[in-house]
Amino acid sequence: MKKILAFAGSNSSTSINHQLLEALGKEVEVNFELISLCDYGAPLFGVDLKNEQGVPESMQSLHEKMKSADGLIVSAAEHNGSMAAVLKNTFDWLSMLEKKFFLHKPTLFISTSPGPRGAASSLKHLVEIMPFRGAEIVGHKSVPSFYDTVVDGEIRGEIKDELVALIRTLETTINQES
Ligand SMILES: Cc1cc2nc3c(=O)[nH]c(=O)nc-3n(C[C@H](O)[C@H](O)[C@H](O)COP(=O)(O)O)c2cc1C
Repeated sequence: MKKILAFAGSNSSTSINHQLLEALGKEVEVNFELISLCDYGAPLFGVDLKNEQGVPESMQSLHEKMKSADGLIVSAAEHNGSMAAVLKNTFDWLSMLEKKFFLHKPTLFISTSPGPRGAASSLKHLVEIMPFRGAEIVGHKSVPSFYDTVVDGEIRGEIKDELVALIRTLETTINQES
C-alpha cells in the first residue's frame, strides 16, 4: 500500500502544526506516518561541522524515511515571517545528502498559526523554493486561527473539505505514479 509521510516544521512538543497533521491523518486513506522533527534532532548546520563530522545519523535516517514514502505532507510553522529554524536546518542538512531532497515526491504543503494569516508567509516561501529542491507540489493551504479551526482534534467547517480535497489529490497522484 502506498505511504504518505508527514511532519511539521516545528520542534515544539505542543506543535499546532503537528496537531493539524494528526487531525488530517484521520482523513488519509493510504498508509499515513506522522513523525516529529523533535525525534530527528541535529546541530546547527555549518560547512565546517559537515566537513569535520559528516551528516548526522538523524538526518540520514530522515532522508531514508522520505525515500521510502510515496508522498509527503509538510505543515510549516512560522517564525518571524518565515519557516522555523528547525525546518531550515533540517533542509540544509538534507541538501548535503541529495540536492533535490524532496526526491520528486508528490508533496502537499500546509501551515497554521494561531493568527488569521495561518502562517501564510512561511507557506509561500516553501511553495516558491521547494520545487527547486525536488518537491512536486500538488497543492498548498494555510489554515488560519488554529484554535478556532481545530477543536478537540477535529477540523471544523469548509476548511476541512478543502484539506480533504487536497489529500485526495495527493492520493490520486501517488496512486498514478507506480
Ligand atoms: C520566535 C517566534 C516568532 C513567531 N513569528 C510568527 C510569525 O511571524 N507569524 C505567525 O503567524 N506566528 C508567529 N509566531 C507564533 C507561532 O505561529 C506559534 O508559536 C505557533 O504555535 C507555531 O507553530 P507550532 O506550534 O507548530 O510550532 C511566532 C512564534 C515565535 C516563538
